[in-house]
Amino acid sequence: RANIGKITTMADDFDRLLGGGIETQTITEMYGEYGSGKTQIAHQLAVAVQLPKEKGGLNSNAIYIDTENSFRPERIKQMARSLELDEDEVLDKIYVARAYNSNHQMLLSEKARELAKKIKEEGEKIKLLIIDSLTSHFRAEYVGRGSLAERQQKLNKHLHEVIKFTDLFNAAALVTNQVQSNPDAFFGDPTRPVGGNILGHMATYRLYLRKSKGDKRIARLVDSPCMPEGESVFTIGEEGIRD
Ligand code: GTP
Repeated sequence: RANIGKITTMADDFDRLLGGGIETQTITEMYGEYGSGKTQIAHQLAVAVQLPKEKGGLNSNAIYIDTENSFRPERIKQMARSLELDEDEVLDKIYVARAYNSNHQMLLSEKARELAKKIKEEGEKIKLLIIDSLTSHFRAEYVGRGSLAERQQKLNKHLHEVIKFTDLFNAAALVTNQVQSNPDAFFGDPTRPVGGNILGHMATYRLYLRKSKGDKRIARLVDSPCMPEGESVFTIGEEGIRD
């Protein structure tokens, strides 16, 4: 894989854990409980990708597929201001689409390719595709053991589309995922992400996030092929994600 780009998380120690930031041509999965910071990191990366390379960005735009109505323009503006960027310009460079159900989400991930092509023709770039949350619609729609196989098959197809996107545009994909709320679902381990093995094999970087004291959070790198496992503490503050 040539020409890999990295996007800073804006927290030095978190970047160190990832080997410099989240990578292009790769899916990074973040899973964790409610409030563990997945959406905040997604917002931060959508801003950070716009920074010039010397500041840890890729001088590019982002696509943000929002499934839970958790995208907050005001939060983006706040993060932009703290970096002394023009808040409206930063917001304009994030193409937000709301996915109403899993089929719509899959359609949007196909449309992302057309959008990125169009933007490229206009002389700009998309280097980040965010899906927050990757699994919530799938989990809500395919309930019970009988529908598990179909759910995994759909997720598999969806993720192939995402990989195609990252390859075509040398872009990074950042997807969020919940942990199993049913403690019996995977033989009692409540920290298992939804989606099981299929997602596990396709996400190159998997991050397990959990809460610590106050605004502190802990990111643990799990099953990475090229980086050692490890943990990093970061903070969610007014300015965004920081050490
Ligand atoms: P779900 O999407 O609900 O599963 O959780 P999540 O993991 O995405 O959590 P999220 O990223 O939404 O993190 C929520 C936490 O971020 C809150 O508990 C706050 O501590 C922090 N947070 C959210 N918005 C702000 C903000 O505007 N300013 C500051 N300082 N902190 C914020």
